[in-house]
Amino acid sequence: MCGIVGYVGNRSIVKTLLDGLKRLEYRGYDSAGLALLEADKIQVVKTIGKVKNLENRILNEYGEIEIAGPSAGIAHTRWATHGAPSERNAHPHLDSSGRFAIVHNGIIENYLELKSHLQGKGRVFVSETDSEVLAHLIAECYEGDLLSATAAALKKVHGTYGIAVIAVTDPGTIVVARHGSPIVIGVGNGETLIASDVSAIAAYTQRVIYLNDGDLAKITAETIDIRNIENIPVSREIAHIDWNPEAAEKSGYDHFMLKEICEQPEAVANAIRGRMDKGSATAILAGLNMTTREMAQVNRIVIAACGTSLHAGMVAQYFFEELASIPVDVEQAAEFRYRNPIIEPNSLVIPISQSGETADTLAAVREAANKGAIVAALCNVVGSTIARESGRGIYLHAGPEIGVASTKAFTCQVSVLLMMALLFGRNRRLSREDGLKIIDDVNSIPGLISQVLERKEAIEKIAKKYAGAKDFFYIGRGCLYPVALEGALKLKEISYIHAEGYHAAELKHGPIALLEAGVPVVALANNIPGKDKMIGNIQECHARQSPVIATATDGDNEIAGIADDVIWIPECSKFAAVVPTVVALQLLAYYIAKERGCEIDQPRNLAKSVTVE
Ligand code: AGP
Repeated sequence: MCGIVGYVGNRSIVKTLLDGLKRLEYRGYDSAGLALLEADKIQVVKTIGKVKNLENRILNEYGEIEIAGPSAGIAHTRWATHGAPSERNAHPHLDSSGRFAIVHNGIIENYLELKSHLQGKGRVFVSETDSEVLAHLIAECYEGDLLSATAAALKKVHGTYGIAVIAVTDPGTIVVARHGSPIVIGVGNGETLIASDVSAIAAYTQRVIYLNDGDLAKITAETIDIRNIENIPVSREIAHIDWNPEAAEKSGYDHFMLKEICEQPEAVANAIRGRMDKGSATAILAGLNMTTREMAQVNRIVIAACGTSLHAGMVAQYFFEELASIPVDVEQAAEFRYRNPIIEPNSLVIPISQSGETADTLAAVREAANKGAIVAALCNVVGSTIARESGRGIYLHAGPEIGVASTKAFTCQVSVLLMMALLFGRNRRLSREDGLKIIDDVNSIPGLISQVLERKEAIEKIAKKYAGAKDFFYIGRGCLYPVALEGALKLKEISYIHAEGYHAAELKHGPIALLEAGVPVVALANNIPGKDKMIGNIQECHARQSPVIATATDGDNEIAGIADDVIWIPECSKFAAVVPTVVALQLLAYYIAKERGCEIDQPRNLAKSVTVE
């Protein structure tokens, strides 16, 4: 959840660190800081609030940003887990001598025990954080080699970490280590960068090394020495990241979220490109690395995910069960990891994660692997931990998703999952004709999204009408039921309005007691199976004076006649309808949040990647 950046090289270190932190702002944070390694001391500057505050503090203290002299620097944006947001709890943290500085992402579970031991040895702590113990511990373990001292210190630690360390003893050097929180090394020409997320360094290099759990590395401007915690050298390949830094900029949109909503036709086109074969009426998903026989032996699918990715998994249950007749369980990843799930050897476990770093989903991967399941991940970030530890799976190719509220990842996940269901269906009883129909459905998705995007002004008008509401309900049936959950999540995430998603039939089992004038209901009444029941649900809501915003298939005057407002969705199949409908709800949430003057890209309390449990 925290952001880490480090730099060694000939550029302005402060400017490079601040630039990196700004590219990590979307991860969510409450304070920021940096440490500069000078000849005989470490300078630390940290502030609460935005990175801009840190930049202003540096200007006030140094008079400029282009500070000459430091041989290395590390920086951090913090999302508080231990200790309230404050300057003294912000990272970097120093040891008592001020000769060692660290930044940390993760949780040190035995920090109180370590802190007590270190205080007993005279070490003075200044913060309430768990992370500070690392600075004192490394200083305690130092016997002349910074990487060895870091390894020795980390052997005493229980918990998760991605850390970067600098020390007066080692000019021009940064030591990094990872266990449970990502660290990536950017390989430059005469410069080396480190970060918790590739988006912080993509502007400087497209060549990166992803550390594995248990890896440490000592980096200088010219060298990268990677070892395991036993100080044995390990080799890690240099990956080439497939997106340019401009893609991670706003490209003229007011918010990353709107940019990412509007680039969904292209993102989905990238997700499906080259992955379907009309000749065989099936999908080509080589990343699954499964023979047709292995696929035929799968007798159960378990999907584990969180948040929006969980909703995509819920949609996929309808796809797999109808197209491939495979029973599917969809599990909240945290629940899956702790409830000792029943996994048989022929279970296929599909973790879904845009970031590929969500702690609970990563733990679900490990739980499934320990029980002998085939694990195939759906991730967007190439080389992410979940992708690498799953060993097989499918990348979304959606491009960087910077807005905390996930949009294009969801539509790409649903599109890929529909192709997976096609593949498994054609591996079983799905006919060639039906397979071709699914291929047409998938190919139609980018165009359906474009049609909805052309209607954003009408959606904005509806959004402005209801932006003052304090509560919303979203209801749907069939594979639009998870879309109702997703629409409610989008609204609450970015507008801070209380919104609940329900199966439409569930309303009368209690929630309907909350309906009254001023409590709008978004009813997903597209012309697909279940629409007739939705008519009854809309009337139930009206009987309680709730205004109804309905999604309806173009030309459906029956729905238009009973809803207060209609968001029109192009005619399409029941499976394809998931995507244009969710895009409409993304826009509805966006325009309501914009009308309310909300932050949108970095909503309060939220982070883009929940890398701690
Ligand atoms: C979605 O808008 C949220 N930002 C959040 O629910 C997110 O989907 C969830 O944290 C899972 O993230 P992942 O897909 O990166 O694992």
